[in-house]
Amino acid sequence: MTTFTTRRQWLRRAALTGAGLATLPTLPLSARSVATPTAFREHLPQLEWEHQRTGQPALKARMLANENPYGPSPLAIEAIAASAAAGNRYQHEAAAELRQMIATLEGVPEDHIMLTPGSSDVLEKMAIVHFLQGGNVVAADPAYMSLIKVSMGMGGDWNKVRLTDDWAHDLPAMKAAINEDTKMVYICNPNNPTGTLTDSAELRQFCRDVADTVPVFVDEAYLEFLPDYQSQTMVPLIREGKNVIVARTFSKIHGMAGLRIGYAVALPETLEKVYRISRGNMGLCKTSLEGAMASMRDTDFQEISRQQTAAFREQTYAGLTGLGLTYVPSVTSFILFPIQMEGKAFLEGMFDKGIGVRSFHVHGQDYCRVSVGTPEEVDLFLGALKDVLV
Ligand SMILES: Cc1ncc(COP(=O)(O)O)c(C=O)c1O
Repeated sequence: MTTFTTRRQWLRRAALTGAGLATLPTLPLSARSVATPTAFREHLPQLEWEHQRTGQPALKARMLANENPYGPSPLAIEAIAASAAAGNRYQHEAAAELRQMIATLEGVPEDHIMLTPGSSDVLEKMAIVHFLQGGNVVAADPAYMSLIKVSMGMGGDWNKVRLTDDWAHDLPAMKAAINEDTKMVYICNPNNPTGTLTDSAELRQFCRDVADTVPVFVDEAYLEFLPDYQSQTMVPLIREGKNVIVARTFSKIHGMAGLRIGYAVALPETLEKVYRISRGNMGLCKTSLEGAMASMRDTDFQEISRQQTAAFREQTYAGLTGLGLTYVPSVTSFILFPIQMEGKAFLEGMFDKGIGVRSFHVHGQDYCRVSVGTPEEVDLFLGALKDVLV
C-alpha cells in the first residue's frame, strides 16, 4: 500500500525528488555515490570497412540484414497470435518452459542456458562484463561486430587477426595473439560477413587449448543452416566444463528476427557474470517465447528454411557467374562477392533500384553482401546488379 495518503503529498514528494536530481551535478564528486565504470570510450574508432544504407521506405528486395524471407513458421505465427491475450502477465513460466526445451535439445542442465532477447543481447552483455576493466578481445578481421564494438565501447581493444586465404579463422595466429590483457576470444562460426566455416575439429582443439586461460565466445547464429550442424557445434565442450560460450538465435533459421529471441549456452559461473548486472527474463515477451517453442517443434519449417537457403545460394552463384563475377562460397544465408566499384556508390545504385544489400571494404577490396531472398528477389537483385556494376 502507498505511504502517501493524499494526491498533494504524492505530488510534493515527486517534486522534491525532481529537485534533488536537478541539483546533483552541483555536488562535489566525493559526495556522490555513483559508481563510475572504468573506461567508457567516448569516440569509438571508425569502422571504415563497413558501409550501410538502411531505412529505405519501399524496397523491392530486402536482402541486407540476413533475415529469413520464409519465416516465421506458420505454427509459430499461430502460437504468437494465441498467446497475445496473455500479454498482461510477466512470463516467467513460459521462459522456464522454453529454457527446459533448449536444455534438452542442447543436452545440458538448465542452469547452462540463458534466454535473451536476440543473441545481440548476450553478445553485448558478455562484452560489458568482461571489458569493464579494459583488456583486449582477440577476434577475426573481418568479423561480426556486435561483441567487438561493445568491447571497444567499454575501453577494450580489438586484437585483429586476419582470416586465412580461404576465409577460415586463422586459429594458430589467434592463439599467438592472446596475451596477458586478453579477456575474451570471439569466433563467429560460420563467420559474418564472409559466410565461411572454420573446421570444427580444429576449432574444438583450439577451445580446449585456450579456454582454461581465456573464455571463448563462439557465435553460432548461422550454424543451423548446415544440415549436419549438430556435429559442428561447440556445445559439447561446455558439457566437458570448458569456459566456452555458445550463442544461438531464433532470428535466422527460425525466421524470427523481429521477435527478438535467442540464447546462450555456457557454464553457470560464466552466465552468473551477466545475471549479476541484469534481471533474467525481463527482456523476454510471451509471444516470442511461445513462438520460439512452436518453431522448435516445427522441424519441417527449419528444413524448408535450410533447403530454400541452399537454393538461394545456387541461384545466386549461377547468376553471379553469368555476370562474370566471383564469390566467396557460403554455408550461410548470405553471400559475399567482390565488386570492382566503390562500395558506397554501389549501394546508392542498388538502393535507387529498390534493392537493399550491404557493402564492405575488406583489406583494400570492396564487396557486396547479399542476404537470402525469394527466387523473385534474387532475379530482381541480379537484374539491378547488371545495371549498377560498371
Ligand atoms: C553473426 C551474428 N551474430 C548475432 C547476430 C544477432 O542477431 P540477433 O540479435 O537477431 O539474434 C547476427 C545478426 O545478424 C549475426 O549476424
